[in-house]
Amino acid sequence: MAANRTFSIIKPDATRRNLTGAVTKMLEEAGLRVVAAKRIRMSREQAEQFYGVHRERPFFNDLVSFMTSGPVVVQVLEGEDAVQRNREVMGATNPANAAEGTIRKALAESIEANSVHGSDSDENAATEIAFFFRNEEIVG
Ligand code: CMP
Repeated sequence: MAANRTFSIIKPDATRRNLTGAVTKMLEEAGLRVVAAKRIRMSREQAEQFYGVHRERPFFNDLVSFMTSGPVVVQVLEGEDAVQRNREVMGATNPANAAEGTIRKALAESIEANSVHGSDSDENAATEIAFFFRNEEIVG
């Protein structure tokens, strides 16, 4: 399969513990290349819109509060089969279920403070990348 792109967020629990480099190293070792990155503080409006698909879930308000509680690093990752590759290296949403060698197994604190977000499909990757980046900010 040709090289393609996915979207990643290094979440506030990871930036707070100074793990931006540790997470990025695991992404790179999994064969992904960071082709865009910026450290931002998400606004409540941004987080609510980004996670809009979860609006009716019981954890929605806590999720938005957590994602706006500190800086995040948003990234565009490039590589062969990037969406699936990233999902594999992230591990299961709940770190208690994450496999050995994954980012969430190694670093995550809880199902909420789970260190990373990654797109779940090529279609969502394109939408999520466009939410945070302009084309000229992505340099492959
Ligand atoms: P993420 O991939 O960023 O997408 C939605 C997030 O909701 C998810 O990772 C989890 O961190 C968070 N979340 C918090 N509580 C739950 C829960 N009970 N079930 C699923 N996701 C949860």
